[in-house]
Amino acid sequence: MYNIIMLGIQGSGKGTQAELLSSRLGIPAVSTGNLFRAEIERRTGLGLEIAKYVEAGELIPPAIVDQAISERIAEDDALRGFILDGYPRNIGQAESLTKILEDAGRVLTDVVFIRISDEEAMRRLSGRRVCSNKKCEASYHVEFNPPQKDPNKCDRCGNDLMQRDDDTVDTIKHRLEVYHSETAPLIEFYRRAGVLREVEGEQSIINVETAIVAAIGI
Ligand code: AP5
Ligand code: MG
Repeated sequence: MYNIIMLGIQGSGKGTQAELLSSRLGIPAVSTGNLFRAEIERRTGLGLEIAKYVEAGELIPPAIVDQAISERIAEDDALRGFILDGYPRNIGQAESLTKILEDAGRVLTDVVFIRISDEEAMRRLSGRRVCSNKKCEASYHVEFNPPQKDPNKCDRCGNDLMQRDDDTVDTIKHRLEVYHSETAPLIEFYRRAGVLREVEGEQSIINVETAIVAAIGI
């Protein structure tokens, strides 16, 4: 059984690689970013609250995030394993996850850390396009990973592509700062726990995938 976390700076390819691993392993990729964007789209009270944080590039408060994760990984499709993308994002969330898994009698098997520079992160996020269908949210890049059929449509579901609201230069800069102060300490945290699998992220999508498969030992 694989219970995996994807770790890395914004734009490192966590979402891209989580989807590829999900198809390969037949277990769900659980992206907190996608869960929250879907909630915002539904315009619920919770969605309006969440939108303030996402648009500012800030982290959403822990009570909301931990509950969303503990409910999602208890769903049927995730009982055979899961790939977490975008969670945990700080030591507090990592400690919560340890507790959630312990209570469920489950163990974390691998933390895949995809390493890229801040400059590369900025290039990737500013050129990213995502599918506007919130159930799909496939991720493309105008230069590095364009859709194959129509430059403005999703290959997977045919919907229009769009730029994410938080992929503007100022918000990207702030998200990268939040990553360095809040999320980067998780690298040491999981290295000490003996589950960190580090891969070079500045290579083609397919080569990153090959490196991850080797690092996990699939
Ligand atoms: P989230 O949606 O998780 O966004 P993020 O953390 O900013 O990460 P990204 O999705 O930007 O990066 P990615 O690594 O997935 O990159 P991708 O694969 O798309 O979170 C959004 C917001 O939600 C947060 O700011 C926060 O407010 C809130 N939130 C979420 N989780 C939370 C939590 N746990 N706690 C509190 N708040 C939370 O790739 C990027 C681009 O590069 C794409 O265009 C892709 O095509 C391209 N690309 C990928 N791999 C390669 C490659 N090898 N070579 C060239 N291009 C590549
Ligand atoms: Mg993502």
